[in-house]
Amino acid sequence: MQTSLKNSPDFSQIRAQFPILQQTENGQPLVYLDNGATAQKPLSVIEAMDTYYRTQNANVHRGVYGLSERATELYEGARETVRQFLNAQSTKEIIFVRGTTEAINLVAFSWARANLTRDDEIIVTEMEHHSNIVPWQLLRDQLGIKLSVLRMNHLGEICLEALKGMVSAKTKLLAVTQMSNALGTINPVKEMVRIAHSVGAKVLVDGAQATPHMAVDVHDLDCDFYALSGHKMYGPTGIGVLYAKQALLEAMPPYQAGGDMIYSVTFEKTEYNVLPYKFEAGTPHIAGAIGLAAAIRFIESIGLEHIAAHEADLLAYATAELKKIDGLRIIGEAKHKGGVVSFVIEGVHPHDMATLMDQEGIALRASHHCAMPVMQHFNVPATIRASFGVYNNHADIDRLVAAILEAKSMLL
Ligand code: ALA
Repeated sequence: MQTSLKNSPDFSQIRAQFPILQQTENGQPLVYLDNGATAQKPLSVIEAMDTYYRTQNANVHRGVYGLSERATELYEGARETVRQFLNAQSTKEIIFVRGTTEAINLVAFSWARANLTRDDEIIVTEMEHHSNIVPWQLLRDQLGIKLSVLRMNHLGEICLEALKGMVSAKTKLLAVTQMSNALGTINPVKEMVRIAHSVGAKVLVDGAQATPHMAVDVHDLDCDFYALSGHKMYGPTGIGVLYAKQALLEAMPPYQAGGDMIYSVTFEKTEYNVLPYKFEAGTPHIAGAIGLAAAIRFIESIGLEHIAAHEADLLAYATAELKKIDGLRIIGEAKHKGGVVSFVIEGVHPHDMATLMDQEGIALRASHHCAMPVMQHFNVPATIRASFGVYNNHADIDRLVAAILEAKSMLL
């Protein structure tokens, strides 16, 4: 069974839209299982960016000539595409940034520095990516705030009751990933937002891993900030989005200063531009925004409900097949998981296994996945991680399992 939904698209046709998947690696057809790190790009995304540079390139918001106006329309059209994708209320709430990391740093630098003082508390979960830990540690060291950690259980799940017991009037921010890159855990973000809001705290959701795999509605989640990266959702690198509620953005000071974020400048005084431009200093990544919009259209042409069903099937198949391997332990067995399987194999270092996989044409990641506290929790130095995308299929998983068995026989 590949998917359980009616009118499921033909996923082999979808795979054919990715030129890179037609090539070989070390003499073997490429099996790409590192989608948590970055996803491959379909032709429609590559062509949208190529067409922009060949025929539409000009700076935005600056020229009165036709080419610049058309580039501006494309760039602002991309913002509207993102707004609809996230169901934000207004394009004023959609800030283009370099990626999730920059989005989180923007909130830490601008909102948090303007609103937090000594002894205020920020809560993060134990499964956060470093990019959702270190910016808050910098604040802790600079402002004297408290950084608290919501622990997870042995399956890699957080407990809502524990969060209820932690929050207080001192809690000003909960920063949480919607889907863990190292474990695949999908967190109950909507309920977490409700709990944080009950004490007046704001919530930042790291959506880097979630947006390629599940429908996100920021209005329904009621989160205050939401961060995403284009390159994990079949778009280009170097472009991402910070969604934030308009009232918060209106009150926040600029994050970076330069052209386009100003309304008027004299040596005495600068008036800032309106939203969203107040937060977009300098020439933006125009081609990146256009590529991201093309990636969203690609995702929507398949349908996130079909993508989620396809990846749930891959996850179930991979988990069952991997568990048959002697000495293999899955790290992260949350009830609610996205398409990520992290594992270790007794007696084999993850890096050695990943190197042998590469020789078989299989690309996957072996590391701490920029989530060292997760490794510490499970008492492992690193894991091997297979993370799935729309183009993966059962044959990819069969190749992975066969290659692991062969590598094991060489290493052990
Ligand atoms: N954060 C990315 C990953 O999980 C790079 O691989």
